[in-house]
Amino acid sequence: MLKPYKAGKPIEELAREKNLDRIVKLASNENPLGPSPLAMEAMKAAVPQVHRYIDPSNYKLVNRLAEKYGKRPEQIICGHGTDALHGDILGAFTQTADEVLTSEGTFIGVYVNTRKHTRTLRMVPMNNWRYDLEAIAEAISPDTRVIYLANPNNPTGLYFTRDEFEKFMPRVPKDVLVLLDEAYDTYAAEFDDYPDGLTYDFENLIVTRTLSKIYGLGGMRVGFAVGPEYLIAELHKVRLPFEPNHLAQEAAIAALDDDVFLKLTIDTNRRNLKKMRQRFESLGIEQLPTSANFIMLLLPSEQCAADFFQECLNRGLILRHLSGFGIPNAVRINSGTDEETDFALDIIDIVYPAVIDKYKNSLVKSH
Ligand SMILES: Cc1ncc(COP(=O)(O)O)c(C=O)c1O
Repeated sequence: MLKPYKAGKPIEELAREKNLDRIVKLASNENPLGPSPLAMEAMKAAVPQVHRYIDPSNYKLVNRLAEKYGKRPEQIICGHGTDALHGDILGAFTQTADEVLTSEGTFIGVYVNTRKHTRTLRMVPMNNWRYDLEAIAEAISPDTRVIYLANPNNPTGLYFTRDEFEKFMPRVPKDVLVLLDEAYDTYAAEFDDYPDGLTYDFENLIVTRTLSKIYGLGGMRVGFAVGPEYLIAELHKVRLPFEPNHLAQEAAIAALDDDVFLKLTIDTNRRNLKKMRQRFESLGIEQLPTSANFIMLLLPSEQCAADFFQECLNRGLILRHLSGFGIPNAVRINSGTDEETDFALDIIDIVYPAVIDKYKNSLVKSH
């Protein structure tokens, strides 16, 4: 049965429900600094043209992306967020009952898109919370048409290395498409062995990137896919003709050049992740290392995680309980501004020990 995508709770809804004056949302891996200032100016300047249908080829944005990443414009397609592009990719390259292969514990959007298109989703267990590319290669069957890989992965925050990826790709038959989702690549780029998907030219590889995260444009819905021309040409047949919209495209073009904002975002993330990691460690919370702008926290049980999430919510802190991602004993938190992060950590300081204490007896009994 189809289930609607469940996003983090909207701020206004929580404020109304709980009568809270301060709410901090660290649930959707957004940029806490807001949109790129250059993107905001570009959107304002573009408003007077919104009565016009846009150029369906997205000429300006596609060419800017081609220039930035050293690709031909024919290798690029833009869409209404990468989620929409993932849906188009499944629509274009798979048929009912074809198999989409991926890892357990990965981005919830791929579950939703696969169900929506009535494809079969097969998931391979993770290895110590990491994508197990060896096991995924082993699991390829004659029905496999698409392999979805998120690098870094959401919600675990971990990445597979260049070496792992380069050993994996030759094991994938050429008629199986690898969809490499790099929503957090700019955060991960500081790790020397992180593979930049756009530097590869495999004939069965499509890489997607989004402007929703580090560029601060989640609400505008703009993302892009890069791959060989013959695959991108197929996507043009299924994509809606006027996406992304005019303001989203103008915002994206400006944001791609906003190096000052990117640097500020990366520094803010680094500083606040460090503070979060230290506090979680001192509280004894089990946490995974991260290469993105969020941390996955492991709690002793599903009930503990649900309670931890709820108690934080009751105090105005919105986190993401990962039951929908298939990891019911985990909660994800992204870094905020300095102030938001302090607010969150002050709440967690109170809530975490209280929740652990509440479940202490039942946890001891169950061991
Ligand atoms: C791994 C991953 N891919 C894709 C998306 C969706 O991005 P977009 O806003 O471009 O649809 C997200 C957002 O959470 C994500 O974490």
